[in-house]
Formats: sequence, C-alpha cells, structure tokens
Amino acid sequence: MTLEAEAPAARKLPFYMRGNYAPIADEATLTDLRVEGRVPDGLEGVYLRNGPNPPASKGVPGHWFMGDGMLHGLRFGGGRAHWYRNRWVRTKALEGAKPMRDDFSRDYTVGVANTHVVPHNGNIYALVESSLPTRVSPELETLGLEDFGGKLDFAFTAHPKICPVTGEMHAFGYGFAPPYLVYHRIGADGTYLQREEIAVGGPTMIHDFAMTRNHVIFMDLPVVFDLEIALKGGMPYAFSDDYPARLGILKRGAPASETRWVSVAPCYVFHVSNAYEEADGTIVIDVARYDELWRRGTKKNFDPARMHRWTVAPGASAARETPIDSRAIEFPRIDERLNGLPHRFAYAPTGENLAADEEENFSQLARYDMASGACTTRDFGRGGVMSEFVHAPKGPSSSEDDGWLMGFVYDGARNASDFWILDAATLETQARIILPRRVPQGFHGSWCPGF
Ligand SMILES: [Fe+2]
Repeated sequence: MTLEAEAPAARKLPFYMRGNYAPIADEATLTDLRVEGRVPDGLEGVYLRNGPNPPASKGVPGHWFMGDGMLHGLRFGGGRAHWYRNRWVRTKALEGAKPMRDDFSRDYTVGVANTHVVPHNGNIYALVESSLPTRVSPELETLGLEDFGGKLDFAFTAHPKICPVTGEMHAFGYGFAPPYLVYHRIGADGTYLQREEIAVGGPTMIHDFAMTRNHVIFMDLPVVFDLEIALKGGMPYAFSDDYPARLGILKRGAPASETRWVSVAPCYVFHVSNAYEEADGTIVIDVARYDELWRRGTKKNFDPARMHRWTVAPGASAARETPIDSRAIEFPRIDERLNGLPHRFAYAPTGENLAADEEENFSQLARYDMASGACTTRDFGRGGVMSEFVHAPKGPSSSEDDGWLMGFVYDGARNASDFWILDAATLETQARIILPRRVPQGFHGSWCPGF
C-alpha cells in the first residue's frame, strides 16, 4: 500500500498515524534475511534505531514525538546479517504511568524513551529528553533505568555528546519549570561528575546541543513552553517573537557562571551536525536550521530545515550565520570519531519537496563536503522514504568518510522496508537487506561496534 492508496478514513488521522509513520502492532525476530550485495566483513556489532510506536491500546498520541519508543536492530558479523528484531522499550510510561505527579512535579523515571539509542561505557541507552536514560541490551531487551549511581535527578537529553578523545559523555536536561536547563557531565567510566544549572531566558525547548574539544554550546532559542497547548495535550511549545535567540558557550567542566552568551538570528534547531574549534579559537557549529517552528495559529508541523554554519569568533557578541545549501535536510550525522573535532563530511536525508507536506518525504541521502561546498546525493526513487543514516568506519584507522552509511528506507511499492549499507565516499550500494515488513519512520540510531 502506498501513501496515495490509503483508505479515505485513514486520511483523517494525523500524519504520524498514517503511511509509514503509522506504528506497527507486534514484535518480531527474523533470521535468514534476504541480502542483495555483500555485508562488509569488518562490520561486527549491532545497528540500533529508536522511534515512536504507540501501542493501539493507547489511541492516538497528541504529537508524533509522544509515542512510546520501539527499537529496531540488526546484528552483523562475519560478513552476514544475523537477525533483525524490534522491541518496545519497556518503560513505566508504556505500562501507563504518568510523568507528572499529583503535585505537578515531574517524575523523571517516567518517559517514553523513543528518540535515540546511544552506547557509552559498555552500556546502551534508549533516550528521550524528558526523563532518565533506559539501559537496553544489544538484543533490544530493556534492562532498567540509569541514574549514574543515584546522582542523576533530572531530565537527560536524547543527544548526549561523547568526546572521542576523553570518552566523557556531555549532556543536559531541560524542563518547563526552573531549573530550565541543567548540564550533566559523565566520565568515561560512567561516573556522574558534574551538574550545573545554566541560566537560560525561560522555558525554551532544547533538543540538542553542541560540543567541541574544549567547550559545550547550549541553544537558547525562541520555541518556548505554552501552557494553553499543554492543557490541550499537544506538544506544549510554540515559536515566540519576543524571546531572544542566544547561544551559551561554556568551557567543558567549568561552573555555569562562566557561560558566555552570544546572540544569534531567531530560528529553531533540533539537530547539530557537529561543532569544533579553529586554531584561533573560533567556534564552528553546523546545524539543520528552521526559520521558525510551531508558530501558533499555523497548521504546519514542520517547515524545511537547511544546513547552516554558525561561527563565533573569540570575543564576539554575536554568531555569524552562513547558509550552506538550499536543500531541505534533517537528521545530519558525521563520522562519530570526529565528534567535537574538525570534520569535513556530513550525511543527511534530503528531498526536493519536503516543504510541501510531511507526506512528501525525503527520498535521497545527501553527502556534504564542507570543505569544497559540494553536495552529492543518492536517490532511492519515488516511493522510497528515507530515515536517518549513520556512519560506521571501515576500520579503526580508516580516514574520515572511509566508511559505511547505514539506515532504513521504506519502499512504498511493497509496503516494507530495506536496510541499506552504502559506501560513504561514493554513496554506492554495498548491501541491501530486504525486510519482509515495515520499519516505521523514526528518529535516531547508532552503530554499536563490538556489542
Ligand atoms: Fe533528535
């Protein structure tokens, strides 16, 4: 069934309950997978991806972002794809617990764990920005909540940044009541090292942040908590013309009082591609930037985001903004070994028509060469619907870009999904794992080597 062939009744549902955004009803473990091409010999580990998949018993969530998390995974090794499986993250929220207590305080042990899945220090965490991380196994089974020895007592972003030099995990949490923003620093061994309350201008929605070799950068942007929307059960944030847009730059490990704030043109950013420092101390931050998001009174869910570069010179009071490309993109990723370090290449789903409607989905993968400005694309054809692709290096000493890109693409012609492994440099197919079922459009995943 293609999106166009849906029954008229289904059209009345919100976009995230239709087509390949719609949840699936069951959990599966599939072996004897059909593979075209060849799984690379050096790929040893699991690819895991998270996304919302509300069970039918719960009805329609108030927003795409609110559905209970489901993991999808494939195990690779010895040149083979051993299995595909999918599992709900067994959270208290899935069992019906509410994140708000009767006294309106937040219970951080309750969250849908639907946004990302990230390995650190031998653990794998299913993450959503409203609550504590949930530990899961490489076989996608839920193990329990992570509070880092009882020291994490606040929300924890779905986009922690792991420094490839030190192994530290830098993170933050935000909320709609003070403290609005808390910086978390976790040691390479999983020890909770530091908690800092960062003074943002109000209850801003902060989905991601940036890390360089020496700094973390917080995005204090004008999408702010809206009580009226909250009371209606929707995603309780809206764009504000009155809220100043700023970036907060803090030396890693420094006290919050040392945060240096610089202004930036109003916008919204869900996702940072990467950030790094130049030799003179200029901070470079590449982002998927929306002109605005969720303006009240409009019916649009998402305008297009486009690749932009922010640069903040030493001593500057404002970030300089440079558009990189006119394509609509989202979910940009890099070679993770360069997190916080100068990178040249970034990879992101794109398409010509995303701006029109969520149903006009991304069908191409873009590869940006940030040094030359060139962008090459791989087209998955009409009916192909992209998800995020992640990078896996071909070997421990291979250079940037000398790796594989992997992710799911929905094939509307057969109403099922394929898992693609592409050569990162050429975007040519290395392998296609043809799954007999759909993997719904989701959010983020990770290549977890060695698990
Ligand atoms: Fe995200």
